[in-house]
Amino acid sequence: MNILGISCYYHDAAAALLRDGVLVAAAQEERFSRIKNDPSFPKLAIEFCLKQAGLKAAELDCVVLHEKPLLKLERFLTSALRYWPDATSLFQQGAISWMKQKLWIRSRIMEELGVGRAKLLFVEHHMAHAASAFFCSPFEDAAILTVDGVGEWATATMGTAISSPCGISLTREMRFPDSLGLLYSTFTAFLGFEVNEGEYKVMGMAPYGEPKYLDELHRMARLHEDGSLELDPRYFSFQYSANRSFSDAFRDVFGDPRDPALEFVTGRADTGDGPEELKRRNQHYADIAATVQRFTEDALLRMAVFLRRTSGATNLCLAGGVALNSVANAHLLRDSGFQRLFIQPAAGDAGGALGAAQYAWHVLLGNKRSFVMEHAYWGRSYENGDLASALKDTNAEHLASEDMLTQRAVQDLLDGRVIGWFQGRFEWGPRALGNRSILADPRRGEMKKIVNHKIKFREPFRPFAPVVPEACVNSLFEAGPDLSQQYPARFMLVVLPWKDEVGDKVPAVNHLGTGRLQAVRPEWNPRYYSVLEAFGQATGIPVLMNTSFNVRGEPIVASPQDALRTFRNSGLDALYMGEYRLEK
Ligand SMILES: [Fe+2]
Repeated sequence: MNILGISCYYHDAAAALLRDGVLVAAAQEERFSRIKNDPSFPKLAIEFCLKQAGLKAAELDCVVLHEKPLLKLERFLTSALRYWPDATSLFQQGAISWMKQKLWIRSRIMEELGVGRAKLLFVEHHMAHAASAFFCSPFEDAAILTVDGVGEWATATMGTAISSPCGISLTREMRFPDSLGLLYSTFTAFLGFEVNEGEYKVMGMAPYGEPKYLDELHRMARLHEDGSLELDPRYFSFQYSANRSFSDAFRDVFGDPRDPALEFVTGRADTGDGPEELKRRNQHYADIAATVQRFTEDALLRMAVFLRRTSGATNLCLAGGVALNSVANAHLLRDSGFQRLFIQPAAGDAGGALGAAQYAWHVLLGNKRSFVMEHAYWGRSYENGDLASALKDTNAEHLASEDMLTQRAVQDLLDGRVIGWFQGRFEWGPRALGNRSILADPRRGEMKKIVNHKIKFREPFRPFAPVVPEACVNSLFEAGPDLSQQYPARFMLVVLPWKDEVGDKVPAVNHLGTGRLQAVRPEWNPRYYSVLEAFGQATGIPVLMNTSFNVRGEPIVASPQDALRTFRNSGLDALYMGEYRLEK
């Protein structure tokens, strides 16, 4: 039986295809359309999924959407009425998008795919998040926590899930406008970053500051023992405005929002030097970032501790956009009382496409489980012939053996070259995990600056991630409980402190004492692992610097043409595509 899951029309549209409950393909529309966070109907991602499965649309047995549009419309209309007339512009903008697009999703799917009404299903947004975590996890049973900006009405849910028979029961929910995700996004906007995209930058900025404003924030957002929130509406405007998420009262507390063009120079040497006034202003913003980050960690931890106590479960599945907060995830692993944590790599709204399909297969149709997501390589791959023809007018060399390829890549890294690494199927979720990555030598402190400035053209404070063999996690990081076998580290979803004696040796991936690691096993990605292992043998440091293969503002590369364009337009020194190597 073939089930297609779809998520679209908010941000990160995606498609995922299951055959008899086993994932065949999953991808975000942005990788094909080249529009970052593309929310539109995922026509290209669906085409890819069908092709990967060798299917025509008419052969689909079921198509499932990751939310219930009419419930979402109800929230939109209720909010517009509640906040009228402040909500006039939100209503006008929203009404256009509902009338033009969102209301007609059913007929759009039927038209695009030629499937009948009886094959269409709709799953509630947070249920799709929950299913995407539990049905990809290795757990027989688990507690479930979903936290995001907002779905239909819910902004966070708690519950439990079991495998035989498959069932998910979400028993508590927090509702719009009380939302941890929207609170974080409000601060993201205030700090001059794009909402639904710049949240990582707030997390990256936070360690430069101190959480000095927690009292002020707790007055704006009442945090209960179970982690639920009550936002004081006087400070927020996302309830009624499409363009502004904080009110004048918010500005009275935190001052003027940060100008996005403001260079982020603080008193710390690694952010560069600048006038004292600039440093002082940035320190203020870093303190605000640290405040909202700490608040988020506290809220999530309270939710998880409450859930651990009330459910009795020892496994936790976490989903929703807030589950991508890898600093908070480390606290959950250490302090929530759960023994094991699973987060699906596309924990945000893209993942809803997968969860919707899995919910239909396991819960609505009552089928047993037969799939665990061990890796994130579910996107499109390209044949050797595709690579060769993309490279035909270049001086690319063919590396005849795996050994030669590994040795050459390691030599490039040792020589201080920054390499583009394009292999196999691209990753599912926002992280590059060794198939569409940029790799460099982490022992060279200057790499952070080089890659941020000359290659990715992004803010100098943005951290880079280390990739390490899974077997080395405990010897490199202060992991506390044994984190080496935990799934979040496979998907780069947890930030851990470096051991003192290691951190100084890898300055390019040491972000104020911590690293957002990717742990790799040879069976998940043999070629990538070989380079990592050989680099470790040559240097005594089994660590590489890994960042996503893209430049600022663009999605991660998908095709060989994307990779070549990025290679030519950036300061990358060499490009490895399949068995080929190209040098500038
Ligand atoms: Fe969501």
